[in-house]
Amino acid sequence: MICLGIESTAHTFGCGIVSDKGGKCSILANEKDSVTTEEGGLIPRELAKHHFEKAKEVIESGLKKANLKMKDIDLVAFSQGPGIGQALRVGAIAARTLALANEKPLLGVNHCVAHVEIGKAMTGAKDPIVVYVSGANTQIIGYEEGKYRVFGETLDIGLGNLLDSFGRKMGLGFPAGPALDKMYFEKKKYVELPYTVKGMDLAFSGLGTAAGQKIGKERKEDLAYGLLHNAFAMLAEVSERALAHTEKEELLLTGGVAASKALREMLEKMCNARNAKFFVPPFSVCVDQAAMIAWLGLVEFRAGNRMKVKESGIDPRQRTDAIRVNWLD
Ligand code: FE2
Repeated sequence: MICLGIESTAHTFGCGIVSDKGGKCSILANEKDSVTTEEGGLIPRELAKHHFEKAKEVIESGLKKANLKMKDIDLVAFSQGPGIGQALRVGAIAARTLALANEKPLLGVNHCVAHVEIGKAMTGAKDPIVVYVSGANTQIIGYEEGKYRVFGETLDIGLGNLLDSFGRKMGLGFPAGPALDKMYFEKKKYVELPYTVKGMDLAFSGLGTAAGQKIGKERKEDLAYGLLHNAFAMLAEVSERALAHTEKEELLLTGGVAASKALREMLEKMCNARNAKFFVPPFSVCVDQAAMIAWLGLVEFRAGNRMKVKESGIDPRQRTDAIRVNWLD
């Protein structure tokens, strides 16, 4: 089967085309166009405007890249949530239109679960604890008894937002992650900053505020190191406990912040210490894109999941652990 997927939860409008021939995930196209802002921060109506303006072009370019026509597509999938309502709505309308006009089945899928499933498909990880870290999302996820459970998550902002808001105060531009990561490896000393783990959950905003107040008082590389070190160590602590609790032996890192070499090094060290395997998918599928939506669409369709158009409403607050996972075991 071949699925065309649409992603539009936040800054990215994407069209991915994926085949599951031979049970394998083959990405035939993964086109996207993203809103970029100098100041950061996403304004919902501007996202919607961008997605509406780019939708046709991105979808056409996906089909062209895959060298296919709509008649060759067997299924249309889209991100149903979580995300920004106005942005999600554009993707849902595009997907419904494509499905209805071409008489194809339609399936709305969960964005976070899609990150997990494409990560597994691309790395060969079987049953990992997943560290999903992006601008808005920070979750430690693992499969247990019919659902992807959230073992730990941020109580305030996402890890990527922490890095970008701190980077903005430092005048690093957007996204700030790569510049901060470079500074991390140029530190001379550790600057004392908050470290906030509450049970299995994390909080980043106090760390960001404290680090912001020290700008100009400490060497910027040392400050970047302190911020990244604490944030990543908090994640490593919680994901190690999730591994220990579930007795799983694989860790999969995904989301935009997976680009951080510092984060990868820290998690890999933790995995090595407890003999767990560490996986990071190619960066092109870590970030928000639509191949993951198309792939999860195929996985769910094969498991028998179907959706009527009237059930295809968006769900901006849809939780990872609200999805019944009937395609494993
Ligand atoms: Fe994402």
